[in-house]
Order: sequence, then structure tokens, then C-alpha cells
Amino acid sequence: MAGNRTLTIIKPDAFASGKAGLIIAHLEKAGFTIRAARVLHLSTQQAEQFYDVHRARPFFASLVKFMTQGPCMPMVLERDNAVAELRNVIGSTDPKDAAEGTIRKLYAVSKESNAIHASDSDENALRESNFFFAETTLLNSR
Ligand code: CMP
Repeated sequence: MAGNRTLTIIKPDAFASGKAGLIIAHLEKAGFTIRAARVLHLSTQQAEQFYDVHRARPFFASLVKFMTQGPCMPMVLERDNAVAELRNVIGSTDPKDAAEGTIRKLYAVSKESNAIHASDSDENALRESNFFFAETTLLNSR
């Protein structure tokens, strides 16, 4: 059964341009509840660790530089079928390919400056949530 939690990050581009409130409103309208949230400026080491799966990709260095350019806002979100539903709401990686009305279509600038991250599996949702949040900071499910 699909899990009911996932991890999102409002990325430095969207946070710096004042889109955090609009994106949170969009997520809440889509039925997500915020279970944990924080604002932090990732170090290079933290960004490299978070994106370790992309280490061999040609865009890795640029991705790490982008994610460390300013504060970002990770959040643990809850709703039924959370991972798949969040990926629908945010749209394709590249805003050029994203469906109308998705967060990336509305707020992303490019494939790299794409406003928001979403976990791609329940397993990664747990790993990524643990990366940013201690268990004691997570609210219990209703
Ligand atoms: P996300 O899916 O959140 O996590 C991996 C990120 O790498 C992705 O968003 C993009 O921001 C970035 N990315 C993926 N593919 C490319 C690419 N071809 N060029 C630059 N950045 C990319």
C-alpha cells in the first residue's frame, strides 16, 4: 500500500523570489497537510549528500551550487498516496514539459531552477524526511 507521507523542498530559486506562500497554499489546496517544516541554507556537503544518487550525472556540480545558493524550505507532507499525488501536483522536472496548473509550470524557471523537489518513492520519502527532520519534530498522523 502506498504511504501517506512524502518530502518536498521549496528550492532556493522559489524561496528567494517569494513564492513559498503561494506554493504552500497550492499544496494545501491539493489536500496536503504540513507535518514538519523548516528553513535552512544547505552546505555543499549537505547538498552533495542529499543528491548522492545524482553524483555521476553531468549536472551534479551545478545542481549542488544551485541548491546551496540560498535558503530552502523542506517539508514533510501528508495525504493519501502522498508520493504519487505530490508528483502530479508539481509536474515534470522541466517546466517546458509540465502540465498547465502544476507548480513547476507556474513557478519554475528551467530544468535546474525548478522551484520544488518531491520524493520519487516511499523509500526515498522516508530517507529524505530523516535527512531533514528528527522523529521528535514530526507531528503524528491524525
Ligand atoms: P529534482 O527532481 O527535484 O532532483 C534532481 C534535480 O536535478 C532535478 O530536480 C533538477 O533540478 C536537476 N536536474 C535534473 N536533470 C537536469 C539536467 N539535465 N540539467 C540540469 N539539472 C537537472
